[in-house]
Amino acid sequence: MATTGKVIKCKAAVAWEPNKPLVMEEIEVAPPEANEVRIKIVATGICHTDLYHLYEGMDEGGFPAVLGHEGAGIVESVGPGVTEFQPGDKVIPLIIPQCRECRFCKNPNTNQCEKGWDGGDDVKVFDSRLTCRGKKVLQFMGTSTFSEYTVVNQMAVAKIDPAAPLDKVCLLGCGISTGYGAAVNTAKVEPGSTCAVFGLGAVGLAAVMGCQAAGAKMIIAVDINPEKAEKAKVFGATDFVNPKDHSKPISQVLSEMTDGGVDFSLECVGNVGVMRSALESCVRGWGVSVLVGWTDLYDVATRPLQLIAGRTWKGSLFGGFKSKDGVPQMVKGYLDKKVKVDEFITHNMTLDQVNDAIELMKQGKCIRSVLSVSPQ
Ligand SMILES: NC(=O)c1ccc[n+]([C@@H]2O[C@H](COP(=O)([O-])OP(=O)(O)OC[C@H]3O[C@@H](n4cnc5c(N)ncnc54)[C@H](O)[C@@H]3O)[C@@H](O)[C@H]2O)c1
Ligand SMILES: [Zn+2]
Ligand SMILES: [Zn+2]
Repeated sequence: MATTGKVIKCKAAVAWEPNKPLVMEEIEVAPPEANEVRIKIVATGICHTDLYHLYEGMDEGGFPAVLGHEGAGIVESVGPGVTEFQPGDKVIPLIIPQCRECRFCKNPNTNQCEKGWDGGDDVKVFDSRLTCRGKKVLQFMGTSTFSEYTVVNQMAVAKIDPAAPLDKVCLLGCGISTGYGAAVNTAKVEPGSTCAVFGLGAVGLAAVMGCQAAGAKMIIAVDINPEKAEKAKVFGATDFVNPKDHSKPISQVLSEMTDGGVDFSLECVGNVGVMRSALESCVRGWGVSVLVGWTDLYDVATRPLQLIAGRTWKGSLFGGFKSKDGVPQMVKGYLDKKVKVDEFITHNMTLDQVNDAIELMKQGKCIRSVLSVSPQ
């Protein structure tokens, strides 16, 4: 390709500082170094974790950055030592790597590859290859999909079926895989069980879909936004509860609906109060509650008796999927019509409209907006 080995100048939405709109800029994307892949991003979703970084995270060292971590694209060129990818391959950049060599990758029970970020530093896995106006720009979650081009280490790139439509499967790069996997892999929802999912964004709706796929008989969808009720049914929810409609604590409402509490609950909001409610909505003896929502600002608390009575509290990052193995499987699930993706997309826009898309999510008016980034 004409661009191989050269710096690419292209468009990206740059977050210069917290709490400010993103700015469309021309950035420079360096050629891939050893073991790296330069990707032309075709489409990207917006996940609440992008908003968390911009508005809530208080990470002063995390700017300027190019946000976006739910993208799909095409390999433009590869650096020395890359044999797994070739220009033209369809790929999804990954928010956690899978090096296949570390003790975490070798352990079947976790996806926490030690080459990834440690949970505190959410900005980049590897050195950024992006610059703008003479400044290095951080790659949020190592990916930076709000850019026409990005560079990612090959251990954080998944090759996907060439038949996959990139403007749909981009959502498998974070939200849908996260929620679905949290139910199936982390909670390990059982056939015939009762479940509750708190928060019905793409992550929570995907958790509802995962509970249904696992054979749950009752799936209670919980959200303070009544507009989410109809959508939750599409993914398999049997009931909808709006905590604002009740004067009692929501855990008591769910306990009364389920003869003592649900077997599995998933928190997909990122609010420590809701995390507590989700745990306390579980039945004693065997109830399992999974934290999926993201926050690093507050402690989470409950009375010890809640756990002593036999409940289990767990957390889930990227749905527990080993990333390079899991994402192509989810893409296959979509192509085989076992995993829904299209139903999550409420808006199609372009990268130039990224601030409008962020506003829609802030106001709870979308499930996922997909932005087209570069022409295919
Ligand atoms: N663990 C992971 O790997 C991972 C990955 C992706 C996203 N996340 C996190 O998952 C969460 C959800 O992401 P999303 O993109 O679906 O967000 P979203 O903003 O689209 O959805 C959040 C939903 O929660 C609802 N909500 C807010 N307060 C509530 C309350 N008190 N009770 C019930 N519902 C409430 C909102 O109305 C909204 O429908 C975020 O915290 C995000 O950062 C975690
Ligand atoms: Zn995300
Ligand atoms: Zn590893």
